[in-house]
Amino acid sequence: MSGNLQFNKIMAAGLTAALVIVVARVGVDALYHTEPPAKPGYAVEVAEAPAGGGAAVVEVDPDWGTVLPTADVAAGEKVFGKCVSCHNVEPANANMTGPGLWGVVGRATASHPGFAYSDGMKAHAAEAPTWTYDQLYHFLANPAKWVKGTKMGFAGIKKPEERIALIAYLHSKGSTLAIPAPDPSRQPGAAPAAGTAPTQPAPKEGAVATPPSGSTAGGPLPTGPASASAAAAPAK
Ligand code: HEC
Repeated sequence: MSGNLQFNKIMAAGLTAALVIVVARVGVDALYHTEPPAKPGYAVEVAEAPAGGGAAVVEVDPDWGTVLPTADVAAGEKVFGKCVSCHNVEPANANMTGPGLWGVVGRATASHPGFAYSDGMKAHAAEAPTWTYDQLYHFLANPAKWVKGTKMGFAGIKKPEERIALIAYLHSKGSTLAIPAPDPSRQPGAAPAAGTAPTQPAPKEGAVATPPSGSTAGGPLPTGPASASAAAAPAK
């Protein structure tokens, strides 16, 4: 008998222990089941914070004295494939749907003989008399936004590196506009004192017969430190 009693005690102890474990597990599970939903919510917020900060990065116009000598002219020729349906860029400089572009870099805006420019482009020539590197860079990003009323029906080239290569290619096609000296204020991470840049005359002496307006070669626009699209607004 006593052996049976002993057995019962052991069984009872074992069952109790098992019960405790089960109850504890259920309790723990319950805890974990309620927590996870809260965590992803926080995770999303954390992920968004750095993205917002990154968007505040300010884009500066290219430092032409640095980027042009090393630009990929062959890549620029490929990009120009988007222009050939409307533009000729050979010395004959025939007008097509668009004006001949031989020597357009540094050329007076809306000046190619025999081409009927839009009123919008003529008005633009009054504000920006020369196709400087900066002017082409902004115009080619979004023609209709940079030159209101232009009849150039082209959406634009968004990627800065593609525009730089394209401008280097155009420069190789009959342009005598000098490549400016490197400008430290346009280097990535340059001090915000970049506003002093436009007062320095562009080193293009003897380059093109571009009269006083040539001083805009350094750009009347680089003071706008915003991205290509955002910079379009203040200059107009
Ligand atoms: C659908 C035809 C078309 C395409 C494509 C096109 N253009 Fe034009 N482009 C024009 C027309 C039309 C004008 C004249 C705009 C005006 O008078 O408003 C023009 C004007 C220009 C001018 C100003 C020239 C000057 O003499 O003042 C430049 C620079 C230019 N285009 C470059 C380009 C480049 C580079 C590309 C390719 C990335 C391109 N265009 C693609 C039709 C086009």
